[in-house]
Parts: sequence; C-alpha cells; structure tokens
Amino acid sequence: QVKRTPLIAGNWKMNFDHLQAIAFVQKLAWSLKDAQHNYAEAEIAVFPPFTDLRSVQTLLAADKLAVALGAQDVSPHEAGAYTGDISAAMLARLDTRYVIVGHSERRGGHGESDELIGLKASAASAAGMVPVICVGETAADLEEHGAAAIPLRQLRAALGKLPEGAEFVVAYEPVWAIGSGDPATPAQAEEVALAIRELLRTERGDAVADTTRVLYGGSVSSQNVASYLKQPNVDGALVGGASLKVDEFSRIAQFQ
Ligand code: G3P
Repeated sequence: QVKRTPLIAGNWKMNFDHLQAIAFVQKLAWSLKDAQHNYAEAEIAVFPPFTDLRSVQTLLAADKLAVALGAQDVSPHEAGAYTGDISAAMLARLDTRYVIVGHSERRGGHGESDELIGLKASAASAAGMVPVICVGETAADLEEHGAAAIPLRQLRAALGKLPEGAEFVVAYEPVWAIGSGDPATPAQAEEVALAIRELLRTERGDAVADTTRVLYGGSVSSQNVASYLKQPNVDGALVGGASLKVDEFSRIAQFQ
C-alpha cells in the first residue's frame, strides 16, 4: 500500500480575529515543539478566516513553523467586479497552500452548487494551491440514499471541472456529524473513504487514487482521532470545534 502523509486540518470557521489568531498559532507552535512525539509524520494545517491570513502567514514564515496555511473558500473568478470575493491569486500570494471548497456550510447556507464548487477547486488549483473538496450527506440523504451516493455525486461533479494532473484532497464530512458531538463511526468513515478512493481510481487512475488523501470530518476530537487514522483509507481529519482549543488541537495532531 502507498504511504500517504496524514493531514490534520483545523477549520476555524468564523472564529478568531487576527490578534486571537496570532496568539493561537504562537501557543500551538509552543505546544507542538514541547511535545516529545512523532507528529512530524503528519502535516498540520490551519484554516483561519480571510482577515487573519496575513497575520498568520507572517508568523508562520518568521518562526519557520511546520504548519501549513489554508483558506476556507475562494472565488471562482480571476479578478474584477465581484464584490466580496477573494481570488485564488490573492490567497496564493499569502503562501496559502490549501483551500476548502464545498463545505456543507456553504453548500447549504449559501446555496453553492456542485458546479460552482468544481469551478472554485479549479481556480485554486490553477493558482498553485490544493483544493480540499468537501463532500457529505445530510441525515435525510443518509436515510434515502445511504452514505456514499451523495458524496460520490458531489465529488464526480467537482472532478468534472478540475483538470487532470491537479493535486487535491477530499474531505468526507457527513453533515449530520458536523458540530453534533455524534461522529460517524470509524467503520462508516472507512466505508465512504473507500468508495471515494474507488471513484478516484475509475475517474483518475491508480496514481491519483493511491496518492490522494481522503480526510474524515465531523465531531473529531483527541479521543476519537486515532480510530479514524487507523482506517486504511482515511488519511487525516478536518477538525472544526476542537481545532479552536490549542491543547486539544495539539493532541489531535499527535494522534499516533
Ligand atoms: O470542516 C470541519 C467541520 O465541519 C467539522 O466540524 O465542529 O464537527 O469538528 P466539527
């Protein structure tokens, strides 16, 4: 089996102003440096709000911290009259490595379509960043279609807009598990992660299927993270609430 570097990603959502962000990342750095562990096997990324990116970038660069920077969204457009949008080029200029696209809070709360999410993934990729394509079913979807059908539809649509050769990450986040304290079981996460990998194999071939990381997200904590990472097809976690507490996120990053 091909070894994939696990990715532990903290999605801050709409939390922390830039001063809080600076304090958080400084504490995270101390905590990770202090800990005698092998977290170095994993890649760690934080996804602050847009207004914090510049501050966090400056801090990461100054301290040479092994934490990657991610953004929570991106415009599908390159530049121009798009009030309120942030372009991929602007993010890339801040050393942003990852961009979340298709989070359920944008699919649901902002009516984003599969097609739009594909265009956002493509814009991020064209600017040299790695889209983290979020997919997941609601509780009603789960009841009606089972777990994998909707995530696979969402992923197929996004891949339809993303050029061959683009690097990307897939995050499986069942909507019913997000912020609910009721996570998917490791077996449920593995089942969908495997289905995602099979889809990647059909659509993009063996190399992409074997190297692309598939994350699980939805009520991940330091208590359960290791059980997901043990699954053969789960290569990391996209963490929401628990990524806002330094000690907890640091423990999550030390899942091994
Ligand atoms: O993107 C991560 C997220 O939606 C999961 O949130 O709070 O359940 O870890 P949470």
